Amino acid sequence: MSDNKSVVLNAAGKTVELPIHTGTLGAPCVDIGKLPKETGLFTYDPGFVATASCRSAVTYIDGDEGVLLYRGYPIEQLAKHSNFLEVSYLLMNGELPNKDQFNSFEHEVTHHTMMHEAFKGFLGGFRHDAHPMAMLCGMVGSLAAFYHSDLDLEDPEQRRLAAIRLLAKVPTIAAACYRYSIGWPVRYPRNNLEYVERFLHMMFEVPSEPLMLKPVAARALDLLFILHADHEQNASTSTVRLVGSTGANPYACVAAGVAALWGPAHGGANEAVLKMLAEIGRPEDVGKAVERAKDKNSGFRLMGFGHRVYKNFDPRATIIREMCHQVLNELGVNDPMLEVAMKLEEAALKDEYFVQRKLYPNVDFYSGIIYKALGIPTEMFTVMFAIARTAGWVSHWLEQQTDPEAKIGRPRQIYTGAANRDYVALDRR
Ligand code: SDX
Repeated sequence: MSDNKSVVLNAAGKTVELPIHTGTLGAPCVDIGKLPKETGLFTYDPGFVATASCRSAVTYIDGDEGVLLYRGYPIEQLAKHSNFLEVSYLLMNGELPNKDQFNSFEHEVTHHTMMHEAFKGFLGGFRHDAHPMAMLCGMVGSLAAFYHSDLDLEDPEQRRLAAIRLLAKVPTIAAACYRYSIGWPVRYPRNNLEYVERFLHMMFEVPSEPLMLKPVAARALDLLFILHADHEQNASTSTVRLVGSTGANPYACVAAGVAALWGPAHGGANEAVLKMLAEIGRPEDVGKAVERAKDKNSGFRLMGFGHRVYKNFDPRATIIREMCHQVLNELGVNDPMLEVAMKLEEAALKDEYFVQRKLYPNVDFYSGIIYKALGIPTEMFTVMFAIARTAGWVSHWLEQQTDPEAKIGRPRQIYTGAANRDYVALDRR
């Protein structure tokens, strides 16, 4: 029996009434907090498919309708009218900034982009062919070593400053990792450039000649950063929150988020998509790939397809798909991978296996093609995702720090190991 305020559960010979919580939008949630105490029962939900871990006002997703709102603003409108730095302010503060607020925010972020010179020694500790996500993960975590005097998490100003530092320094660290991997000197951030242009300059400016930035490159990357900025309780953001729940410093939290994002089932998918498209090679070989993806024993999945929440088109994929054609046309790039991708999308969307499971292209399916057109190497694709998602990670971390219901994350388990047994001496085994 249930009404919109509670459900009554009869279990283990007990009857318990569990409250229902309802947010501004989205599915109501049954609060199971008192279930163990009143019935001795726990719940089991591997991957937290049906479990809300917190209350949050940052982002809302409707997977059936393909809706994505950042602080209530539709992603389509932000993609069309906003920029990544303004979206970062919105995610962190909850409201769009007025002109003075934006100028002050931009000035502050711009003047926190430098890294301590000791970071160069850190870079030198890596092999030149280290994966940039490994380098990023280590270097973001080490930021705490440089700011240990500003880590009083009870102080809202120190919390805010740490968020600003992360938003400002992750692009600098990311570009430094790339430059180190190709043996080029690190480029310092230029304060006269805007956020994305500054990053592109740090990535591609060579000592021998000034960088001729193409406006379409900065525009495309800014849009990709907006689309990747946040996505409610995805695996890496949930990781940031879990680490944050222990009272760990924000640099450690975001480093953990970088590590979680790296997985090919999550942010590593954009790199995996390009490898998959290259492996398929030709549009005429798309059919074989689709058949392989349907074969459970193949261990092969169509990377860039499917989503835990979206059972409709990922709205970000729709925007990126349109931009993909525009960027390649404006840059005069003719990438055969795009034709393979379009053929693959067409084949999969007609195939009963994908239709029945509601597997649509997600945010990672087309983004790699654009990154490639901008001259960003495949191994840096997930680093791009991490730069953008830092805005979401720090926003959720800040929100968690003032959440009255926040407590240390500590899930339970179903124990399947050996029952109690006595130790046997070595000479008797
Ligand atoms: C991101 O959470 C977020 O919001 C993430 C993200 C964000 O912005 O933070 O949106 C970014 O991570 C996007 C997803 C990127 N990952 C990929 O593209 C990797 C390929 N996709 C899959 O691994 C998978 O779709 C997931 C991980 C994205 C979702 O997995 P689920 O929700 O746990 O779904 P599932 O594994 O239970 O699959 C359901 C069914 C299974 O078949 P059956 O057992 O029902 O027969 O669909 C099949 C799966 O085998 N399936 C796929 C498939 N994805 C799911 N089959 C072939 N190819 C695929 N890509």
